[in-house]
Amino acid sequence: MLDGKRILLIIGGGVAAYKSLDLARRLMERGASVRGVLTPGGQQFITPLSVASLTGDECYTDLFSLKDEAEMGHIRLSREADLVLIAPATADLMAKMANGLANDLASTILLATDKQVMVAPAMNAEMWAHKATQRNLETLKRDGVLMVGPGAGMLACGEVGPGRLAEVPDMVAAVEDFFAGGARPLSGKKIIVTAGPTHEPIDPVRYIANRSSGKQGFALAGALADLGADVTLVAGPVSQDTPIGVNRVDVQTALEMDAAVTTALPVDVAVCVAAVADWRMQAGTMGEKLKKSKDGIPALDLCENPDILKGLSSMSEGRPGLVVGFAAETEKVIEYARAKRERKGCDIIIANDVSDASGVMGGADNQVHVITGDGVDSWPTMSKQDVAVRLAQTIAGALDK
Ligand code: C5P
Repeated sequence: MLDGKRILLIIGGGVAAYKSLDLARRLMERGASVRGVLTPGGQQFITPLSVASLTGDECYTDLFSLKDEAEMGHIRLSREADLVLIAPATADLMAKMANGLANDLASTILLATDKQVMVAPAMNAEMWAHKATQRNLETLKRDGVLMVGPGAGMLACGEVGPGRLAEVPDMVAAVEDFFAGGARPLSGKKIIVTAGPTHEPIDPVRYIANRSSGKQGFALAGALADLGADVTLVAGPVSQDTPIGVNRVDVQTALEMDAAVTTALPVDVAVCVAAVADWRMQAGTMGEKLKKSKDGIPALDLCENPDILKGLSSMSEGRPGLVVGFAAETEKVIEYARAKRERKGCDIIIANDVSDASGVMGGADNQVHVITGDGVDSWPTMSKQDVAVRLAQTIAGALDK
């Protein structure tokens, strides 16, 4: 897949630098040749010797090295590659790139190169979220720089959040995609994903809600975007970071979610992951806070919310080519989910056990059964991120049929 491709791998200063050694190996396994550049920060974590030993080439470290300049100047280094890959890319390196600074070997190469640059950022979550970093990210994307990751999860500093270096297989896949001509399987496809709970207000301070965290839907939206899809994520009230490359529309209620989905039509695929509240207040939100009274407990007069999944599945005109629903069950998971697929009229149902014992609701892992017209495919327990990546591939495969 990467036969004969020359990759210049710039390794920045971050704990994740050790992963780039594995990355170099995996790229070489696929036929690429890898030449390493190690920044002074990178050298605090791994040595030029390990990079050179693994790549079978010199590891370049110094802008003003007479030896390097005599043998291989930074201009040649930057040109004698088919792709310049920075992993891990620190906030500092991204800032330098975005502003055209060139005061060390890595930044000079990046300013001198006429080749595609791909960046795999890795940093503390606050540094990633900082306005300056996000501004630099936007600038780099506008400049045509490709991004891979970062993922979210446990960071070396002990904090949890976005900023983890993309996993090695994901970086390899991104490199392969680039050399495949950017022909990612979902390029040009429009996809809606609904995610999270909805909040149905009772009065100005109270609402009906559920425990959905939005994690699985957000991860799926990101994975679909990674495969090239143009994703609109209609999100209920959750505290999740928007995945890179995804258009997010925030809503509170089922009616708002339904309206946002309708606005985003037509689409090729609709994936309803949201745990939409089944009921809302019949007469709308009460204008004033409900008071306790001697007359007893107030009755909540509820009415049914629109079923977004069913609505999409049964569209007589302009139905999405593929409609995917989720079935969260606490017992007889497959049996109930099969019946749900029939009832809703969708093409695929992803069923999972959300009983308390499963720990799925709000948890990091998921175990799903993929139910189609052809039967049931039960996947092993894996992280919601991994479920998302595999589901995105399943969706791409189903569209291909
Ligand atoms: O009927 P139930 O809520 O169990 O069905 C779950 C599936 O239906 C999920 O895919 C969910 O996103 C979708 N759904 C919906 N609108 C509703 C209720 C559920 O899209 N009002």
